[in-house]
Amino acid sequence: MTTTWIVLGATSAMARPLIRALATKGATIYLAGRDMDALETLATDCRIAGAPEAHAVKFDARDASNYAEIVHSLAATEGTLNAISFVGSMPEQYEIDASPDLIADVVMDSMTGPATFLTRLAPVMEARGTGVIVGISSVAGDRGRLGNYVYGAAKAAFSTYLSGLRNRLGRAGVHVMTVKPGPVDTPMTFGKKIPFMTTPEAVAKDILRGIEKRRNVIYTAPIWRLVMAVITHIPEPIFKKMSF
Ligand SMILES: NC(=O)c1ccc[n+]([C@@H]2O[C@H](COP(=O)([O-])OP(=O)(O)OC[C@H]3O[C@@H](n4cnc5c(N)ncnc54)[C@H](OP(=O)(O)O)[C@@H]3O)[C@@H](O)[C@H]2O)c1
Repeated sequence: MTTTWIVLGATSAMARPLIRALATKGATIYLAGRDMDALETLATDCRIAGAPEAHAVKFDARDASNYAEIVHSLAATEGTLNAISFVGSMPEQYEIDASPDLIADVVMDSMTGPATFLTRLAPVMEARGTGVIVGISSVAGDRGRLGNYVYGAAKAAFSTYLSGLRNRLGRAGVHVMTVKPGPVDTPMTFGKKIPFMTTPEAVAKDILRGIEKRRNVIYTAPIWRLVMAVITHIPEPIFKKMSF
């Protein structure tokens, strides 16, 4: 049985080990993103690793004009269809404070673009009655904090979107998994000293295990479920004076 994955944000540092694992398992992969040269190189790597087919696809979270065309290509595949989105952007909060127009870009990258695409794809997966959608959100969405509350707000919206999508598609046999990474050692966190930092390789293992166990929401590293349980229970009068 053929298995196909579309990976939105395939150039993401976090996506790479997962893409390699999917290729090794023999999945056909659609690598979607903005940098076509990087995607073509990734597609070659996938074919070498064992993917029967690997395609580079133009995907811009801020331009939905070709989403219907991508979904049309995916609808023509046979077997199980799966999707995962790594798309997101996190300018520094002080940059956003100085240029509030950036808010629209952050929301577009982390929420509107991926959600628009997944909503277009949903009926195709619903009709097949199988498959998995994985959305990479963030622990930043669990509570707005001083250092990144616009990015956090966009990820909170994406987590809520995924929760509703899970509710809808679960009825048709399609599983939706929300991934909430804590800090991961990628360019997004370059130069930052953050506790309980994990690696893209460990994230890939957690995602694959989560899919296998049909988990609804996973934290990676798993310790972040506990950390966020504590953080979300700090009373607001105290939390609003904290600086992290
Ligand atoms: N690193 C962390 O600590 C951390 C923690 C929690 C959650 N996350 C989330 O994990 C995901 C992957 O992040 P990462 O750490 O691997 O960072 P990354 O390497 O910067 O990956 C971000 C990905 O989003 C893509 N992207 C951004 N804006 C886009 C747009 N307008 N259209 C299409 N693609 C766009 C980037 O594509 P380009 O290559 O074209 O820029 C890249 O593939 C993101 O959603 C991020 O928010 C990261």
